[in-house]
Amino acid sequence: MANKFLVVGNWKMDLSHKAALEVAGAIKKMLAGIYLDVDVVIAPSFTSLPAVATKLAKNEKVQLGAQNVHWEEGGAWTGEVSVSQLTPFARWCIVGHSERRQLVGETDEQVRAKVYVLQKHGLTPIVCVGETADERNRGETVSKITRQATAIFTQQTGVSVSRLVIAYEPIWAIGTGETPDPAEAAQTMLLIRKIAAEKLGAEAAEKIRILYGGSVNAGNAADFVSEPGVDGVLVGGASVKSAEFVNIVKAVEKIERTF
Ligand code: PGA
Repeated sequence: MANKFLVVGNWKMDLSHKAALEVAGAIKKMLAGIYLDVDVVIAPSFTSLPAVATKLAKNEKVQLGAQNVHWEEGGAWTGEVSVSQLTPFARWCIVGHSERRQLVGETDEQVRAKVYVLQKHGLTPIVCVGETADERNRGETVSKITRQATAIFTQQTGVSVSRLVIAYEPIWAIGTGETPDPAEAAQTMLLIRKIAAEKLGAEAAEKIRILYGGSVNAGNAADFVSEPGVDGVLVGGASVKSAEFVNIVKAVEKIERTF
C-alpha cells in the first residue's frame, strides 16, 4: 500500500509568537471544510508550541511538530529542549536540518541519537539530508547522501520505520528559489530508499516516508509528489504564508497515488 502523503511546514525563526498563532489559526480555518487524505504538520518555534497546540486542539487535520530536540533525555544542558518537554505538544520533530548541521555543527552521530530518543518517546522524526552546491558540482551527491542515510538507518528496526520520515533537501535549493529537476530529485530519493532496503529489508524501506524539500511552493509541489517514491514535501518559506501553504496541501491532495 502506498504511504499517505505528508506536508510539513518548517516555520524556522520566521514568525513572532502573535504571527504564529495567526498563521496556525488561518491554516486551521482554511482546511476546516475540506476532505483531506494528507497528513499536515506545522513546526513553530519551541516558544509557540504550547499556545499553537491549544489553538489547534481537537483539530485532526493539522498536527504539530518541533524543529529540533536534544539527544539526551535530561540533565545539565542550558538552553536545550528535551523530548519529554515536547511530548505534551508535538508528535513530530525535524532533526538534522542543514541549517543545524552547517551552522551549529550537528553531526550524523547526534542526528542518529536524536532519532533514537524521539522514537523511544513515540514522536516521529523528520530527518533532513542533502548536498551543498559544491558537493553537487564535484559529483559527491551520492556519497554524501549515502553517508547521511546510512547513519540514520543503522539502528532502525522494522517496528520503528513506520514512524520515520526522511526529507531530501538539496542545500542549494533551500530558500533560493532554485529547485532540482523533480525526476533528478526522485532518483536521489530512490537511493535513500535503496540504502534503507539494504539495511532494513525492502518491506520496511517501503514504509519510510521520503519527502522533498527546498523552495517548494504551490506552483511546484505537485511536480515533486507526482514522481514515484516521493511521499510529500517539507516546506520552509512558503509555509508561513497560510494561503500558500494550504494551496500546497491542496495540490498534493489532488495527486492520485499510482506508486
Ligand atoms: P525553503 O526551506 O522551502 O524556504 O526552501 C525548506 C527547508 O529549509 O526546510
